[in-house]
Amino acid sequence: MSPQEEIIALTAELNRHNYNYYMLDAPVISDYEFDQLLRKLQDLEVQYPQFVQPDSPTLRVGGTVTKKFESVAHRYPMLSLGNTYSEEELLEFDNRIKSIVNQDIEYACELKYDGLAISIWYENGLMTRAVTRGDGTKGDDVTANVRTIKSVPLRLQGSGYPDFFEVRGEILMTFARFEALNKEREDIGEPPFANPRNAASGTLKLQESAEVARRGLDFRLYYVMGENLADTTHYDSIRRLKDWGFRVPDVLEKVSGISQVIDFMHKWDVERKQLDFPIDGIVIKVNRFDLQQQLGMTAKNPRWAIAYKFKAEKMSTPLLSIDYQVGRTGIVTPVANLQPVPLAGTIVKRATLHNADVMAALDIREGDSLFVEKGGEIIPKIVGVDLDKRLPDAHPVAFVTHCPECGAELRRNEDEAGIFCPNEMHCPPQIKGKLEHFIGRKAMNLDSLGEGKVEILYDCGLVKNIADFYDLTFNQLLGIEKRFPAEDGKPERVVSFREKTVENILAGIAQSKQVPFERVLFAIGIRYVGETTAKKLARFFKNIDALSAATREELMEVNDVGDRVADSIISYFNNPENLEIVIRLRKAGLQFEIAEDEGVVSSDELQGKSVVVSGVFTISRDDIKKMIEQHGGKNVSSISKNTDFVLAGEKMGPEKRKKAEALGVPIISEEEFYKMIGAI
Ligand code: IVH
Repeated sequence: MSPQEEIIALTAELNRHNYNYYMLDAPVISDYEFDQLLRKLQDLEVQYPQFVQPDSPTLRVGGTVTKKFESVAHRYPMLSLGNTYSEEELLEFDNRIKSIVNQDIEYACELKYDGLAISIWYENGLMTRAVTRGDGTKGDDVTANVRTIKSVPLRLQGSGYPDFFEVRGEILMTFARFEALNKEREDIGEPPFANPRNAASGTLKLQESAEVARRGLDFRLYYVMGENLADTTHYDSIRRLKDWGFRVPDVLEKVSGISQVIDFMHKWDVERKQLDFPIDGIVIKVNRFDLQQQLGMTAKNPRWAIAYKFKAEKMSTPLLSIDYQVGRTGIVTPVANLQPVPLAGTIVKRATLHNADVMAALDIREGDSLFVEKGGEIIPKIVGVDLDKRLPDAHPVAFVTHCPECGAELRRNEDEAGIFCPNEMHCPPQIKGKLEHFIGRKAMNLDSLGEGKVEILYDCGLVKNIADFYDLTFNQLLGIEKRFPAEDGKPERVVSFREKTVENILAGIAQSKQVPFERVLFAIGIRYVGETTAKKLARFFKNIDALSAATREELMEVNDVGDRVADSIISYFNNPENLEIVIRLRKAGLQFEIAEDEGVVSSDELQGKSVVVSGVFTISRDDIKKMIEQHGGKNVSSISKNTDFVLAGEKMGPEKRKKAEALGVPIISEEEFYKMIGAI
């Protein structure tokens, strides 16, 4: 097989596996086998970029950096829907329609996904563009980011689709992804997203598509638009998309008459609690396209569709007290203890007040009753104070001034809503947070310890900081035991350190000495230094000495490092206690410099640049590719307007050259490249 044939075959094979996995939920090969095939394709694509297919599964993993999202005019305006919260208005909607079309109506009922609207273009069977709603007439081109979403087909299947059509739908984040992302953010002191919708919209606007891929967005389609679509009803047009390779929503019902719409609504008001993605209502559409056309539009909305939004249940209940919880990064969160109240199927006793600003905005006074609301999400929300129940002359409730865990005076940084405990080295929840972060999978990966055991080691005084792990001995650990009393219906639990457990723990600790520098740097828990930043810092500075000696300006030369991160790194290394920990870890044998073969990182000359390599060079293509990475650049497989330059060897393909020229992407010779990176 020629390389071209092999690339085409691998692309098709991998796409078939993706389809089995994401659309049919029926994978036929293991994740490992899939990754092997993908890697093989990636290697071939780097070698033969001229053969990369437009639906290559490698587009799914991202790698593009979009500096600025281009504004694109919508071919068909993106409308929004009229909303209602009442059954009565649903009946009015139905009556209005019947009075215009003079017949009983068949409706298509769907869920109203809580994310952001997107329009995805298909031209000649290929996904070519994805545009956000924007102002309805033009939106942002977020194609590279949307391509990472596995349920968006890049090439259509079957036949009979028009040359051009658009699929409209919602980009969203599942609850599971949302929670994992927030946990990660809290680990490094980043503010969590308030809800899955904000998380989805923040993610879709990221410049690095690889990060979008990592976070895992999802897509639910709800409309198809285009000329020459064969179907005559909304329902059929959506079903048809299945034949073309789309994942069609599980919930789509054809019903006759408004009373069945209301049944559907009642059903989903309850069942939405079982869904793993957020919805905030249902959408009802007149099923027949000809009737849709006849009904037309008002100034803003189509007359043939309406959204019914679920009411969040709301109750007023007395505030009993406020707890101040100290998180693992020191942020203090006020939590209201409420007189228990039944709400949307559960009893609510507590609800977060988020932070001092939110608390102040609510203007909570002593003895107040608060309105608590529960919508689609599982989490109850305080939405206001019940002023009818306010006592005369009630004093405002002030935020605590001292840490309830360690007594330190609390602080607040300018421009930040969070009040925090600055005693990061000695405040128990913060120490536990640092220990847990250190052992985490993406950090030192000490899975033989686990959170429960770490807590025990801290509680019995054996581990007070991350360096203490490396002084633990067999005799100290053997026989440690802790009882967790029965709670909330769970039986009593005893964790004890037996011989095998202790051996595993010590073996894990010994192995962690091989963990590469970039992960050690992440593990030591410098605030705001997440996994990616740690990687970039490690590559740039190569060892901890250079990093700890770096000035603010030098730190900020690293891509993605801004004031906040730079200041945090400086303040970390200014703290003698941290320095001592680093010295002890170093003595213990942890990696504080990058390994030999990574150590050839020579500059940051190509930082953030996307480079396409094409042609034959005096050294192997793999070596060229490695050099690009070692100088901070990124290898991408096909030329786009986001490519910074094409590195052209001998015999560069004419198609590539034409494309680069057309897009105004500079073409650089091998020699120019060596000059650029300071090699000659
Ligand atoms: S139909 C003309 N169907 O809700 C039809 N919209 O204002 C336009 N949405 O911007 C939309 N789920 O982002 C439709 N099943 C669904 C939907 C849905 C969520 C969003 C959409 C739109 C907004 C309504």
